[in-house]
Amino acid sequence: MYMKHIIKLVKLVEFYIKAKTYKDFDNPEISQLIYNILELNDSHYRITEIENIRKELKKDSRILQINDLGAGSTFSKSKTKSVKSIANSALSPKWQCHLLYKTINEFLPENIIEMGTSLGISTAYLAIGNPRATVTTIEGSEALAGIAIQNFSKLRLKNIKQVYGNFDHTLPVILENINHVDFAFIDGNHTKEATIDYFNQIKTKSDESTVMILDDIHWSKGMEEAWEYVKSQESVKATLDFFSFGIVLFDRRYGNNEHYKVIERKFKLWK
Ligand SMILES: C[S@@+](CC[C@H](N)C(=O)[O-])C[C@H]1O[C@@H](n2cnc3c(N)ncnc32)[C@H](O)[C@@H]1O
Repeated sequence: MYMKHIIKLVKLVEFYIKAKTYKDFDNPEISQLIYNILELNDSHYRITEIENIRKELKKDSRILQINDLGAGSTFSKSKTKSVKSIANSALSPKWQCHLLYKTINEFLPENIIEMGTSLGISTAYLAIGNPRATVTTIEGSEALAGIAIQNFSKLRLKNIKQVYGNFDHTLPVILENINHVDFAFIDGNHTKEATIDYFNQIKTKSDESTVMILDDIHWSKGMEEAWEYVKSQESVKATLDFFSFGIVLFDRRYGNNEHYKVIERKFKLWK
């Protein structure tokens, strides 16, 4: 376990040294995109409401019976978990959710798929990013899906379609009934094989305009390998690596198989 933390730290330092800010790119399209999604202080009046729900969840001591179908969490492998432990460990943090919101706002995708609803916090950010979109979000744990639906109702979000069930069975059905995936957030079952499989399935309904976000790309050796696989695909024109997650772009405007490590300008000590 100790070794695992050291390896992660080394990787983080390596990432920090190599990472560039939006000002360091020659391609104006990529530079502008990174500025818009990472630097721009573009807020939304509903973010406070969503974050208030996150705060409540972080104090919620209800115990849930979890059937975690994924690779699990590094924090706890137990079958019963409190809502607060999930809210404190398994959700995308505020800054990442804000980036999700700004990415949606940038591309205005209409068909959005999220794999891994959990308590519904990231889903809410996706939903406010483009109220005209339909966010289809999948969750395999009944208890979590139940809490997420309550949160969507508290937030009066009408553009979310919640699907309950294992990704392995639900994703093919969703894809069968959709013409085109504009945006996908893959945030569950972090194994190499599953991640590559979900990526390839979604790709069958994608084209140049599709944007995908993969979470936890450096979480394990398997996830690193899955990320390398994605980067090696000819249809992938550029990737943005934010260390905890990565954005996949298929549009040649953003590069010709170019892969960038990206950091916010305020965090880079030497510019
Ligand atoms: C990291 S959490 C999602 C967090 C959420 N996107 C957020 O940022 O607020 C991953 C979720 O995926 C679900 N999951 C993992 N593997 C799954 C599978 N094979 N089928 C369905 N759901 C799965 C888990 O139950 C868990 O709630």
